[in-house]
Amino acid sequence: MSLKDAATAVRENAHAPYSNFKVGAAIRSKSGAIYVGCNVENVAYPEGTCAEAGAIAAMVAAGETELAEAFVIADSPSPIPPCGGCRQKLAEFGAADVPVTLATTDGAVRTTNIGELLPGAFGADHMERS
Ligand code: THU
Repeated sequence: MSLKDAATAVRENAHAPYSNFKVGAAIRSKSGAIYVGCNVENVAYPEGTCAEAGAIAAMVAAGETELAEAFVIADSPSPIPPCGGCRQKLAEFGAADVPVTLATTDGAVRTTNIGELLPGAFGADHMERS
């Protein structure tokens, strides 16, 4: 299955009664496996989680920590950029050149990568003292 098909399918399961904005995410790990996630909102609004966070959690729960590719889809006027928190989450598990494809359900597509999404990222090297 393609990442696009996986993200499109899981988007249908999004729990988004407050925003009515369903998002689907699919990621491919280094092993080639696909993990999916959708946004899961909560009546206590800040407790909601993004589609990307769900997909990453599924990958880690399966024992994998290396991201090879990501795909995010929503019914939006233009491909949606991941939120700031999700950019940091993607950067935790993927190198700067890992492709991230952003798509709309109408077929618009923008391909970028983790480095472009989070320039100047805070990383483990910033915690090292010389
Ligand atoms: N959302 C995602 O799941 N991923 C994104 O990249 C942007 C926003 C969700 C969070 C919330 O449930 C809804 O979209 C509206 O912000």
